[in-house]
Amino acid sequence: VRHLVGIKDLTESDIQLILDTASQFKEVINRPIKKVPSLRDVTIANVFFENSTRTRLSFELAEKRLSADVVNFSASGSSVKKGETLLDTVNNILAMKVDMVVMRHSSPGAPHYLTKHIKANVVNAGDGTHEHPTQALLDSFSIREKLGDVAGKRVAIIGDITHSRVALSNIFCLQKQGAEVMVCGPKTLIPKHIEALGVKVGHDVRAALAWCDVANVLRIQLERQQIKYFPSLREYSLYFGISKQMLDDLDRPIVLMHPGPINRGVELTSDAADSSHSIILDQVENGVAVRMAVLYLLAQL
Ligand code: CP
Repeated sequence: VRHLVGIKDLTESDIQLILDTASQFKEVINRPIKKVPSLRDVTIANVFFENSTRTRLSFELAEKRLSADVVNFSASGSSVKKGETLLDTVNNILAMKVDMVVMRHSSPGAPHYLTKHIKANVVNAGDGTHEHPTQALLDSFSIREKLGDVAGKRVAIIGDITHSRVALSNIFCLQKQGAEVMVCGPKTLIPKHIEALGVKVGHDVRAALAWCDVANVLRIQLERQQIKYFPSLREYSLYFGISKQMLDDLDRPIVLMHPGPINRGVELTSDAADSSHSIILDQVENGVAVRMAVLYLLAQL
Protein backbone atom coordinates (compact mmCIF):
# COMPACT_ATOMS: atom_id res chain seq x y z
CA VAL A 1 0.00 0.00 0.00
CA ARG A 2 1.59 3.33 -1.09
CA HIS A 3 -0.81 5.38 1.01
CA LEU A 4 -2.31 5.38 4.49
CA VAL A 5 -5.95 6.30 3.99
CA GLY A 6 -7.54 4.15 6.68
CA ILE A 7 -6.93 1.35 9.17
CA LYS A 8 -9.60 -0.66 7.31
CA ASP A 9 -7.05 -1.26 4.50
CA LEU A 10 -4.30 -2.59 6.84
CA THR A 11 -3.63 -6.17 7.92
CA GLU A 12 -2.77 -7.15 11.48
CA SER A 13 0.86 -7.64 10.41
CA ASP A 14 0.94 -4.14 8.80
CA ILE A 15 -0.19 -2.74 12.16
CA GLN A 16 2.43 -4.72 14.10
CA LEU A 17 5.15 -3.57 11.68
CA ILE A 18 4.16 0.08 12.19
CA LEU A 19 4.03 -0.29 16.00
CA ASP A 20 7.35 -2.17 16.15
CA THR A 21 9.01 0.44 13.93
CA ALA A 22 7.52 3.18 16.14
CA SER A 23 9.12 1.54 19.21
CA GLN A 24 12.51 1.88 17.56
CA PHE A 25 11.85 5.52 16.66
CA LYS A 26 10.71 6.24 20.21
CA GLU A 27 14.15 5.14 21.42
CA VAL A 28 15.76 7.40 18.80
CA ILE A 29 13.82 10.53 19.78
CA ASN A 30 14.66 10.03 23.45
CA ARG A 31 18.39 10.22 22.69
CA PRO A 32 20.28 13.54 22.99
CA ILE A 33 20.49 13.63 19.15
CA LYS A 34 16.88 13.11 18.12
CA LYS A 35 17.29 13.18 14.34
CA VAL A 36 17.98 10.40 11.84
CA PRO A 37 18.78 10.96 8.13
CA SER A 38 16.20 8.44 6.84
CA LEU A 39 14.10 10.89 4.74
CA ARG A 40 16.87 13.35 3.87
CA ASP A 41 15.89 13.56 0.19
CA VAL A 42 12.12 13.52 0.75
CA THR A 43 9.85 16.59 0.69
CA ILE A 44 6.54 16.41 2.57
CA ALA A 45 3.59 18.83 2.42
CA ASN A 46 1.25 18.98 5.42
CA VAL A 47 -2.01 20.14 3.86
CA PHE A 48 -4.63 21.03 6.46
CA PHE A 49 -8.12 22.09 5.39
CA GLU A 50 -9.37 21.71 8.99
CA ASN A 51 -8.05 22.95 12.33
CA SER A 52 -5.51 20.88 14.24
CA THR A 53 -3.01 21.26 17.06
CA ARG A 54 -1.69 17.79 17.90
CA THR A 55 -1.79 16.07 14.51
CA ARG A 56 -0.24 18.95 12.56
CA LEU A 57 2.60 19.58 15.03
CA SER A 58 3.19 15.86 15.52
CA PHE A 59 3.51 15.19 11.76
CA GLU A 60 5.80 18.19 11.35
CA LEU A 61 8.05 17.08 14.20
CA ALA A 62 8.06 13.48 12.93
CA GLU A 63 9.11 14.71 9.48
CA LYS A 64 11.86 16.93 10.91
CA ARG A 65 13.16 14.09 13.14
CA LEU A 66 13.46 12.04 9.93
CA SER A 67 15.34 14.93 8.22
CA ALA A 68 12.64 15.48 5.55
CA ASP A 69 12.06 18.90 4.00
CA VAL A 70 8.68 20.17 5.18
CA VAL A 71 6.13 22.67 3.85
CA ASN A 72 2.93 23.50 5.72
CA PHE A 73 -0.35 24.60 4.16
CA SER A 74 -3.50 25.75 5.97
CA ALA A 75 -6.67 26.41 3.99
CA SER A 76 -7.35 29.54 6.05
CA GLY A 77 -5.25 32.32 4.54
CA SER A 78 -4.74 30.37 1.27
CA SER A 79 -6.15 30.65 -2.26
CA VAL A 80 -8.81 28.06 -1.30
CA LYS A 81 -10.62 31.16 -0.05
CA LYS A 82 -10.57 32.46 -3.66
CA GLY A 83 -12.29 29.28 -4.91
CA GLU A 84 -9.33 27.03 -5.82
CA THR A 85 -10.29 23.33 -5.80
CA LEU A 86 -8.70 20.60 -3.66
CA LEU A 87 -7.07 18.98 -6.69
CA ASP A 88 -5.73 22.28 -8.10
CA THR A 89 -4.36 23.19 -4.66
CA VAL A 90 -2.58 19.85 -4.25
CA ASN A 91 -1.30 19.73 -7.86
CA ASN A 92 0.20 23.21 -7.43
CA ILE A 93 1.96 22.05 -4.25
CA LEU A 94 3.17 18.90 -6.04
CA ALA A 95 4.52 21.00 -8.95
CA MET A 96 7.09 22.24 -6.44
CA LYS A 97 8.46 18.63 -6.31
CA VAL A 98 6.74 17.31 -3.22
CA ASP A 99 6.95 13.54 -2.59
CA MET A 100 4.34 13.00 0.13
CA VAL A 101 1.11 14.73 1.13
CA VAL A 102 -0.26 14.54 4.68
CA MET A 103 -3.84 15.82 4.49
CA ARG A 104 -6.64 16.69 6.88
CA HIS A 105 -9.99 17.49 5.29
CA SER A 106 -13.58 17.83 6.49
CA SER A 107 -14.94 15.63 3.67
CA PRO A 108 -14.92 11.86 4.26
CA GLY A 109 -13.09 10.25 1.31
CA ALA A 110 -10.98 13.30 0.35
CA PRO A 111 -7.63 11.46 0.86
CA HIS A 112 -8.92 8.46 -1.11
CA TYR A 113 -9.87 10.84 -3.94
CA LEU A 114 -6.34 12.27 -3.91
CA THR A 115 -4.76 8.81 -4.22
CA LYS A 116 -6.65 8.38 -7.52
CA HIS A 117 -5.31 11.63 -8.99
CA ILE A 118 -1.73 12.18 -7.77
CA LYS A 119 1.50 10.18 -7.80
CA ALA A 120 2.74 11.27 -4.32
CA ASN A 121 2.14 9.12 -1.23
CA VAL A 122 -0.95 10.27 0.67
CA VAL A 123 -1.36 10.04 4.45
CA ASN A 124 -4.78 10.73 5.94
CA ALA A 125 -4.52 13.04 8.97
CA GLY A 126 -8.31 12.83 9.52
CA ASP A 127 -11.11 13.01 6.93
CA GLY A 128 -14.41 14.27 8.30
CA THR A 129 -16.30 11.58 10.23
CA HIS A 130 -14.50 8.76 8.39
CA GLU A 131 -11.01 7.75 9.64
CA HIS A 132 -8.02 9.12 11.58
CA PRO A 133 -5.58 6.23 11.11
CA THR A 134 -2.49 7.64 12.81
CA GLN A 135 -4.58 8.49 15.92
CA ALA A 136 -5.72 4.86 16.17
CA LEU A 137 -2.15 3.62 15.69
CA LEU A 138 -0.80 5.91 18.43
CA ASP A 139 -3.67 4.84 20.69
CA SER A 140 -2.78 1.16 20.17
CA PHE A 141 0.91 1.93 20.67
CA SER A 142 0.05 3.64 23.99
CA ILE A 143 -2.11 0.70 25.16
CA ARG A 144 0.65 -1.74 24.24
CA GLU A 145 3.22 0.37 26.08
CA LYS A 146 1.04 0.64 29.21
CA LEU A 147 -0.53 -2.86 29.33
CA GLY A 148 1.98 -4.96 27.36
CA ASP A 149 -0.42 -6.00 24.60
CA VAL A 150 -3.61 -4.99 22.80
CA ALA A 151 -4.81 -8.56 22.21
CA GLY A 152 -7.38 -9.68 24.77
CA LYS A 153 -7.90 -6.20 26.22
CA ARG A 154 -11.36 -4.66 26.65
CA VAL A 155 -11.56 -1.13 25.30
CA ALA A 156 -14.60 1.11 25.85
CA ILE A 157 -14.88 4.04 23.42
CA ILE A 158 -17.12 6.53 25.22
CA GLY A 159 -18.75 9.65 23.78
CA ASP A 160 -19.89 10.99 20.41
CA ILE A 161 -19.40 7.90 18.23
CA THR A 162 -21.55 9.14 15.33
CA HIS A 163 -19.35 12.11 14.47
CA SER A 164 -16.00 10.57 15.37
CA ARG A 165 -13.32 9.43 12.93
CA VAL A 166 -11.21 8.36 15.93
CA ALA A 167 -13.89 5.82 16.94
CA LEU A 168 -14.04 4.10 13.56
CA SER A 169 -10.25 3.89 13.12
CA ASN A 170 -9.88 2.60 16.69
CA ILE A 171 -12.57 -0.05 16.20
CA PHE A 172 -10.75 -1.41 13.11
CA CYS A 173 -7.30 -1.15 14.72
CA LEU A 174 -8.25 -2.76 18.05
CA GLN A 175 -10.31 -5.59 16.54
CA LYS A 176 -7.58 -6.48 14.02
CA GLN A 177 -5.24 -6.93 17.01
CA GLY A 178 -7.69 -9.11 18.98
CA ALA A 179 -9.13 -6.59 21.46
CA GLU A 180 -12.82 -6.49 22.48
CA VAL A 181 -14.49 -3.14 21.84
CA MET A 182 -17.54 -1.49 23.40
CA VAL A 183 -18.96 1.84 22.27
CA CYS A 184 -20.87 3.77 24.93
CA GLY A 185 -22.86 6.99 24.72
CA PRO A 186 -26.34 8.43 24.34
CA LYS A 187 -28.49 6.69 21.71
CA THR A 188 -28.52 9.91 19.67
CA LEU A 189 -24.72 9.74 19.31
CA ILE A 190 -24.29 6.06 18.39
CA PRO A 191 -25.00 5.08 14.76
CA LYS A 192 -27.53 2.25 14.33
CA HIS A 193 -25.29 0.20 12.01
CA ILE A 194 -22.37 0.07 14.49
CA GLU A 195 -23.28 -3.38 15.90
CA ALA A 196 -22.61 -4.82 12.43
CA LEU A 197 -18.91 -4.06 13.10
CA GLY A 198 -18.94 -6.57 15.99
CA VAL A 199 -18.74 -4.07 18.85
CA LYS A 200 -20.77 -4.13 22.06
CA VAL A 201 -23.08 -1.14 22.50
CA GLY A 202 -23.76 0.42 25.91
CA HIS A 203 -25.52 3.50 27.26
CA ASP A 204 -24.39 3.32 30.91
CA VAL A 205 -20.99 4.91 31.45
CA ARG A 206 -20.45 3.33 34.90
CA ALA A 207 -21.10 -0.15 33.44
CA ALA A 208 -18.69 0.59 30.58
CA LEU A 209 -15.96 1.67 33.03
CA ALA A 210 -16.53 -1.46 35.16
CA TRP A 211 -16.26 -3.67 32.02
CA CYS A 212 -13.14 -2.23 30.40
CA ASP A 213 -9.36 -2.24 30.79
CA VAL A 214 -9.08 0.99 28.80
CA ALA A 215 -11.56 3.87 28.48
CA ASN A 216 -10.94 5.98 25.37
CA VAL A 217 -13.10 9.06 25.91
CA LEU A 218 -14.16 11.22 22.96
CA ARG A 219 -15.24 14.83 22.61
CA ILE A 220 -18.73 15.91 21.59
CA GLN A 221 -18.10 17.16 18.04
CA LEU A 222 -20.47 20.11 17.94
CA GLU A 223 -18.88 21.37 14.69
CA ARG A 224 -20.08 18.27 12.79
CA GLN A 225 -23.66 18.17 14.06
CA GLN A 226 -26.27 19.13 11.46
CA ILE A 227 -29.22 19.16 13.88
CA LYS A 228 -29.65 20.70 17.31
CA TYR A 229 -27.61 18.64 19.72
CA PHE A 230 -29.44 16.30 22.07
CA PRO A 231 -28.70 15.82 24.91
CA SER A 232 -27.35 19.25 25.82
CA LEU A 233 -23.75 19.55 27.00
CA ARG A 234 -25.00 19.94 30.57
CA GLU A 235 -27.09 16.76 30.29
CA TYR A 236 -24.18 14.97 28.64
CA SER A 237 -21.77 15.82 31.46
CA LEU A 238 -24.38 14.79 34.03
CA TYR A 239 -25.04 11.34 32.54
CA PHE A 240 -21.82 10.53 30.64
CA GLY A 241 -19.12 12.77 32.15
CA ILE A 242 -16.29 10.90 33.90
CA SER A 243 -14.76 12.12 37.17
CA LYS A 244 -11.68 10.97 39.07
CA GLN A 245 -13.98 9.69 41.82
CA MET A 246 -15.70 7.34 39.35
CA LEU A 247 -12.30 5.94 38.33
CA ASP A 248 -11.08 5.66 41.93
CA ASP A 249 -14.27 3.76 42.88
CA LEU A 250 -13.66 0.94 40.35
CA ASP A 251 -12.66 -2.50 41.68
CA ARG A 252 -9.47 -2.48 39.55
CA PRO A 253 -7.45 0.26 37.86
CA ILE A 254 -8.22 1.17 34.25
CA VAL A 255 -6.32 3.28 31.75
CA LEU A 256 -7.91 6.60 30.72
CA MET A 257 -7.29 7.91 27.20
CA HIS A 258 -8.53 10.85 25.14
CA PRO A 259 -7.36 11.90 21.65
CA GLY A 260 -7.75 15.61 22.45
CA PRO A 261 -8.81 18.33 22.39
CA ILE A 262 -10.57 17.78 25.75
CA ASN A 263 -13.71 19.70 26.62
CA ARG A 264 -12.91 19.90 30.32
CA GLY A 265 -16.03 19.64 32.45
CA VAL A 266 -18.04 17.94 29.68
CA GLU A 267 -16.72 14.43 28.90
CA LEU A 268 -14.00 14.51 31.59
CA THR A 269 -13.59 16.52 34.76
CA SER A 270 -10.20 18.18 35.10
CA ASP A 271 -9.28 15.97 38.06
CA ALA A 272 -9.90 12.85 35.90
CA ALA A 273 -8.00 14.20 32.89
CA ASP A 274 -4.99 15.09 35.06
CA SER A 275 -5.13 11.98 37.30
CA SER A 276 -2.69 9.07 37.49
CA HIS A 277 -5.26 6.99 35.52
CA SER A 278 -4.68 9.21 32.48
CA ILE A 279 -2.12 8.54 29.72
CA ILE A 280 -3.38 11.42 27.58
CA LEU A 281 -0.01 13.17 27.28
CA ASP A 282 1.76 9.83 26.67
CA GLN A 283 -0.54 9.43 23.66
CA VAL A 284 0.65 12.79 22.35
CA GLU A 285 4.31 11.88 22.94
CA ASN A 286 3.85 8.54 21.18
CA GLY A 287 2.20 10.21 18.18
CA VAL A 288 5.55 11.53 16.95
CA ALA A 289 7.21 8.08 16.94
CA VAL A 290 4.16 6.46 15.31
CA ARG A 291 4.02 9.08 12.56
CA MET A 292 7.78 8.70 11.99
CA ALA A 293 7.15 4.97 11.50
CA VAL A 294 4.28 5.55 9.03
CA LEU A 295 6.25 8.07 6.94
CA TYR A 296 9.44 6.00 7.00
CA LEU A 297 7.66 2.80 5.94
CA LEU A 298 5.70 4.52 3.14
CA ALA A 299 8.92 6.07 1.81
CA GLN A 300 10.40 2.57 1.37
CA LEU A 301 7.58 1.53 -1.05
N1 CP B 1 -6.30 14.22 18.18
C1 CP B 1 -6.35 15.15 17.20
O1 CP B 1 -6.56 14.84 16.01
O2 CP B 1 -6.14 16.43 17.65
P1 CP B 1 -6.03 17.72 16.70
O3 CP B 1 -7.39 17.94 16.09
O4 CP B 1 -5.58 18.84 17.57
O5 CP B 1 -5.04 17.38 15.61
